Amino acid sequence: MSTYHREFHRSIEQPEAFWAEQARRLPWFTPPTTILEYDEAGHARWFVDGEINICHAALDHHVEQGRGDQPAIFWDSPVTAGKRVITYAEMRDQVARFAGALKGLGVEKGDRVVIYMPMVPEALVAMYACARLGAVHSVVFGGFAPHELAVRIEDAEPRVVVAASCGVEVDRVIPYKPIIDTAIEQSAHKPEACVVLQREELTAELTGRDHDWEALVAAATPADCVPVKGGDPLYVLYTSGTTGKPKGVVRDTAGYAVALHYSMETIYDMAPGEVFFSASDVGWVVGHSYIVYAPLLRGCTTVVYEGKPVKTPDAGAFWRLISEYRVKSFFTAPTAFRAIKKEDPDGKRLAQHDISCLEALFLAGERLDPPTFHWLDDLLDVPVIDHWWQTETGWPIAANLHGLEPMPTKAGSATVPVPGFDVQILDREGEQAAALEQGSVVIKQPLPPGCLVGVWRDPQRFHSAYMAAFPGYYLTGDGGYFDEDGYLFIMGRTDDVINIAGHRLSTGEMEEVVGAHPAVAECAVIGIHDALKGQIPVGLVIPKDGFDGDEVALEEALIALVREKIGPIACFKQVLVVDRLPKTRSGKILRKLLRNIADGKEYGVPSTIDDPASLQDVHEAMKERSVGAAHEARQV
Ligand code: COA
Ligand code: AMP
Repeated sequence: MSTYHREFHRSIEQPEAFWAEQARRLPWFTPPTTILEYDEAGHARWFVDGEINICHAALDHHVEQGRGDQPAIFWDSPVTAGKRVITYAEMRDQVARFAGALKGLGVEKGDRVVIYMPMVPEALVAMYACARLGAVHSVVFGGFAPHELAVRIEDAEPRVVVAASCGVEVDRVIPYKPIIDTAIEQSAHKPEACVVLQREELTAELTGRDHDWEALVAAATPADCVPVKGGDPLYVLYTSGTTGKPKGVVRDTAGYAVALHYSMETIYDMAPGEVFFSASDVGWVVGHSYIVYAPLLRGCTTVVYEGKPVKTPDAGAFWRLISEYRVKSFFTAPTAFRAIKKEDPDGKRLAQHDISCLEALFLAGERLDPPTFHWLDDLLDVPVIDHWWQTETGWPIAANLHGLEPMPTKAGSATVPVPGFDVQILDREGEQAAALEQGSVVIKQPLPPGCLVGVWRDPQRFHSAYMAAFPGYYLTGDGGYFDEDGYLFIMGRTDDVINIAGHRLSTGEMEEVVGAHPAVAECAVIGIHDALKGQIPVGLVIPKDGFDGDEVALEEALIALVREKIGPIACFKQVLVVDRLPKTRSGKILRKLLRNIADGKEYGVPSTIDDPASLQDVHEAMKERSVGAAHEARQV
């Protein structure tokens, strides 16, 4: 049996012994005596009676162990021409002070703090400061509009909001303060205070509940780490589901810390003192896990990058960062490399940098499409590793275990289940699918440490979204199959979640916004293939009677509405007006059929369709506007 198989089988057959061993590698205030228990609904809970603090484990502990002078953060911001190096000791001190500032505003263990910040070191300081106090942070990605922020503030009910005065997007400065003020105005819950980090690029006017970060910190007394129970929540991170309301994924403290620490060694092959670079954003799960927490838990240095893969200043940005900071493992989304490949197909920019330090490239956030895989594999001398996970799991479900036992790669596959994840493929009847047979990808309970422990204040949704479909299994929402060698292939979502440039969004949510426009009678939003972003949304709209016929004006209005309500990150830029939409006789829109039409795939006319002529309508509308792969190709 190979090392991987031995480790995997032990993790499934003796989960308590396996994870107890991993837990011993972290500094606890009180080590857990109960490793695994189940709550009343039958969900796994790890290390619940242990006492730990993730800020202590990631910062204070390393300083005590002699890493005080080692860089914890390399911050690099081509968009503001800024660079900073922050050591472990400096980071601990900054975090302790900011924790003291939050404490001064009344923040206590269990309170929520919403963080709306760009990729600046203070975003990490704010997150760790919450963790230090045992408060629960909820970071919201900067590309979301006020309405989305308002929904999250209302649900999380934070005592305090922490923000920056602005974000910087390539060539434009985005004022954050008006976004926050509007969001608080729209939310039924009003936070008591808002702390604003003033950036040089734009100073925000502070009023009422606002506090200046610098002034607050200058007056604060550093706060110590508060021991929390292993099962206490560390954060709530909202993610798109199939309805308009995002789900607040709740992460516990100890299970998460143990899982991340294990993954740094086993998957990413990182040792203390080495440099890890994850090009994502603190607003996404990749940012939480592999920019903020995992690298520092492992005693590594994390690169915090405020910029894009291209245009800041060019397609050599990542290569420059890898070379300059001597990065050992690099992680980003495939879409970033599709953007680089478009600008620099022959890798000329790469040739300008010495990236001999790089030992592996990791990709996730969406499927690593075979053309991008082959391009990277030809270009680089290091393994190109696709690994699959989601906000809910917090760390990879399937990967090539580079730090344990590297395996040959297969294009299009995330390789094998990571120890702890008993991944299975079930057919509609809940039966195990045979090799090569596609089905629902599920994880047999218990989920390993690190995975979600609930949906914030909504146990019913936790159950219905993840646990109800196949009792005893967690439903990932992805479809896929195992091949004969046990390699896992993830083929895409089986629900209305789409993946735009590595960002997860809900077509259902966009439909709610579009459908609320006074001129719209009915609509469907579908995700269609896009060469750069993987998928992009397209709205199909039936106007109400009395519509004035100005389709251009309607399209503009709907695009503006989605941008205003959800944000630019939705990339909602195309609307087609149609007379009819294909529906079943019971009135359900046949979205899969719509997607197939757009993607030029074969489709049969289902016997349940109420009006087959509606397909022709959609075809015509797509053809006229060259929407979708099939119609674009015809146009060429
Ligand atoms: N704040 C405000 N606006 C933001 C934003 C932020 N933090 N991030 C993105 N936006 C805006 C962009 O400016 C753009 O606006 P526009 O419509 O006015 O041009 C819009 O949201 C769409 O952004 P994006 O989809 O990112 O497109 P892009 O053209 O700016 O960049 C990529 C394309 C591929 C380079 C970029 O999406 C990328 O680097 N993706 C990597 C994804 C990633 O890190 N995923 C995390 C999981 S690993
Ligand atoms: P998020 O929660 O934003 O991380 O998005 C998770 C979803 O992105 C998954 O459910 C998948 O649909 C998709 N995804 C992420 N990584 C991969 C991957 N390596 N291969 C295929 N799909 C992926």
